[in-house]
Formats: sequence, C-alpha cells, structure tokens
Amino acid sequence: MLNDFSKQCSESKLSPLCEQLITASKQAFSVNNGNIPKWENALSTIRLQNTGTLNYAAPYLDIDATHIDKDNLESSLKQLMPWRKGPYQIGDLQLDSEWRGDMKWNRVLPHIQSLKGKTVLDVGSGNGYFTYLMSLAGAQMALGIEPFLLFNYQFQAIRTLINNPPHAFVLPLRLEDMPVQPLFDTVFSMGVLYHQKNHMAHLQQLKDILTKDGELVLETLVINKKYGDQIIPKDRYARMRNVWCLPSTDTLHSWLEQTGFSDIKLVDITKTTAEEQRATHWIGDNTQSLKDFLNPNDDNLTIEGLPAPLRATVICRV
Ligand SMILES: C[S@@+](CC[C@H](N)C(=O)[O-])C[C@H]1O[C@@H](n2cnc3c(N)ncnc32)[C@H](O)[C@@H]1O
Repeated sequence: MLNDFSKQCSESKLSPLCEQLITASKQAFSVNNGNIPKWENALSTIRLQNTGTLNYAAPYLDIDATHIDKDNLESSLKQLMPWRKGPYQIGDLQLDSEWRGDMKWNRVLPHIQSLKGKTVLDVGSGNGYFTYLMSLAGAQMALGIEPFLLFNYQFQAIRTLINNPPHAFVLPLRLEDMPVQPLFDTVFSMGVLYHQKNHMAHLQQLKDILTKDGELVLETLVINKKYGDQIIPKDRYARMRNVWCLPSTDTLHSWLEQTGFSDIKLVDITKTTAEEQRATHWIGDNTQSLKDFLNPNDDNLTIEGLPAPLRATVICRV
C-alpha cells in the first residue's frame, strides 16, 4: 500500500511531502504491537479473494466482487473487529458497522464545495469509509490520517478487495505529524476535535495545512447553549475516556474566529440516534453502543448525567 501511495503521491500536489509521510508511516507501522501478526494473517487470507469495483450504494460502500468465499471473508474481516465505521458490502457479504456513516455524509456533502480534482485530507479517518467517499466524490487525492493501527489494517483489508482502487489512502499518522505546508484544498476533521486536549492547537494545525481559500469541514460534539458556553467532563463522557471539551455552537464559532477562519457557517446540528450508532455483530465482544451510554430513564442525558451527544457540522474558509 505504501508503494502505491508513494507513486500516486509523487504525481500529486502532495509531492513535496511524500518522503516525510512515508518515513513517518513506516515508523508507525513498525511499533511492537502484539496484534499485528493476527491482522497480517487476516490480510493475507483476504488477498486470496476476488476483487471488484468500488461504488457508493448508500448506505454501503459497495465492492461488486463475484464468487467470493463469503464465510472465509467474514471470518477474516472479523479478525479485524471492532468495525466502528462503515457500512461496507463486499459481494453478498454485508459488513454492518456500529455507525451508519452514510447518515453523517448526508449531513455534510450538500454543504461543501465540490471535491472534484481537489487534494483532500481526512483527519482521524478511522478505517477510511469517508476517505473513500471523498475520492468517489471526485477528489484527485484523498488522504486519511489515523493513528490507531487497527483502523489502518481495516482500510488495507477493504483496499485489497478493490479492483483498481481509487486515489484514497490512510496513513498511520496524527495531525501533529503532518508537515506544515498549505497544500490541501479541503480538510475534514470529523469526530476528532473533542478528543484533543488542546482544541485551539488542533484548529490552528488544520488552518496551517489548508491552501489559500481552502475549506475546513469540522464535525464535532457540541452542547445546547442552555448548558452554558462549554462543558469540560470531569471523568467520562458517554463512557468515552478522552473527551476534553464540549463547546456550545457560539463557543465553537468564536474558537474558529480566533484561529483566523472566516465565512463560518453552521450547516447542521443533529442529535445522535440509535439508528446511527448501534451494536452490530461486527463490533466484537464488547457489545455496548449508544443506548448503553445514555441514561436509561432520560435519553437527553448520558449515563454520567451530561447532555446526550449532539453533533454540529461547521464549514469555514481560510
Ligand atoms: C470518533 S473517531 C471519528 C472517525 C471519523 N472521522 C468519523 O467522523 O466517523 C475519531 C478518530 O480520530 C482519531 N484521532 C484522534 N486524535 C487524532 C489526531 N490528533 N490526529 C489524527 N487522528 C486522530 C482517533 O484515533 C479516531 O479514530
């Protein structure tokens, strides 16, 4: 995969970054992680399957492979659980992820500038579900960065099944690892901001890698302003350990303004529902999902008594 990336990177606007990105990715893949042999083994059996063309047939990213060995493919893909993002369909195998990614994409896509011919970064891409959608929407290069190695293996598993894969890649990097050069036309940060200890540094890094007139697509958890300007969870939020700050939409707007973004538009605000996030048999032994993270007597509150997840999409420009 890194060889393919190297070739396509060198022919793209990202050519000044290729060497640095590849060196950092090789380093990240070479960590001592006891799961890697299991994940490599899963990839090597998936490589024996037939490939097919990638299309978006909502809600699925669909690979029209014929004559797959369905049981074998299912058991190999299940070596890579939990599948949080998706869903995917490969031949007649449906990989029903915890999240219905199509629902988020429907909230985002109508509001963004066309991705045709663009160089796009998907920060915190998970297994690349949205990165693939960005390339299917016409991006010349869609680069996902995702520090969690398992999700990189999931990306590669899906890629292995695609005949003539598009110019979409996921590398095992954090935003902080990205060379600071203004090369991306559109940068997506979806579901990432609230995981940052320093949200202002994250916004600044996003701004610094956008081209002049580039567009930021920010999707993140917010709170209704009746709860104040922001909530800093004392401990967990909806059972997540690493949620640092939940702003009101006004607070989020002022953070973006302070970073120097302009033309800031709140284009969507949606409460997360159990239709969008729910347990499936692709998430492994820990079968808890949204309904277990909410107060059983009041689904407007999390199990910790904080406001239930509400997600905003904001579009702005450099
Ligand atoms: C909640 S998931 C969101 C995945 C996907 N973007 C979406 O919207 O559904 C957040 C992802 O961001 C990744 N992440 C967290 N901090 C990051 C950082 N500083 N740089 C890049 N990715 C990060 C996490 O590993 C995780 O997979």
